[in-house]
Amino acid sequence: MRAVTIIPTFNELESLPRTLDRLRRAVPHTDVLIVDDNSPDGTGGLAAERAEADSQIHVLHREGKAGLGAAYIAGFRWALDQGYDVLVEMDADGSHRPEELQSLLDALDSADLVIGSRWVPGGSVVNWPSHRKLLSQAGSTYSRVMLGIGVRDITAGYRAFRRETLERVDLSTVESVGYGFQVDMTFRVAQLGLRIVEVPITFVEREFGDSKMSGNIVLEAIGNVTRWGLAARWSKLTRR
Ligand code: GDD
Ligand code: MN
Repeated sequence: MRAVTIIPTFNELESLPRTLDRLRRAVPHTDVLIVDDNSPDGTGGLAAERAEADSQIHVLHREGKAGLGAAYIAGFRWALDQGYDVLVEMDADGSHRPEELQSLLDALDSADLVIGSRWVPGGSVVNWPSHRKLLSQAGSTYSRVMLGIGVRDITAGYRAFRRETLERVDLSTVESVGYGFQVDMTFRVAQLGLRIVEVPITFVEREFGDSKMSGNIVLEAIGNVTRWGLAARWSKLTRR
């Protein structure tokens, strides 16, 4: 079983080397793909150096900041082309502890998508201001109700997909640019009737650098979730 962990980066010069060291130690069998959006701080150069020194590390250099969703789609395409069986999503900033990755991979034995979840029993968040907690929980609850799926942490960014799962999602139609991409993918996998399993994780807020979360990202996500939810209800109503 060949696994690759995809790490999107934008200005993660301080965090990325720490995350790479931890990941290579915690789960040595997984390859790594860094997807850098031409970070002004030189993260792309650092990633290239690491790839030079370690044959299991790869880099995709993109032209400029085009959003988390776009970076992941590019990473998925590369990894599917390369024939990987398992594709993992992980933030560069240490919030997704590499030491917990094996528990996600284990759960994938009986799932099509595994989500590292903050909002199931045993999951938690360390060092988040209360407004971020509230935003995440409210966003998850709104999405869950609107889309009618039972996932507790629907925006979570620590995930493991079987390649067959991603092959069934039409990646060319995923339009979300920001973090709403995570909701988008969850909804699509759920609509395909595939098995989604949440495993508890401890999400630790970054020590270095800044979050790229913004008001626009939140607005895009709320707008999309509302549209998808209404469209799904409408098609249910008109089907018979
Ligand atoms: N290539 C690329 N392009 N990477 C990006 C971009 C982009 O436009 N925007 C963000 N990233 C990378 C960051 O460098 C980091 O590695 C990861 O995506 C997550 O970004 P953060 O800015 O650290 O996200 P967060 O901590 O605020 O948000 C967390 O919570 C969200 C909501 O639950 C993450 O876990 C998200 O994945 C999650 O959706
Ligand atoms: Mn973060």
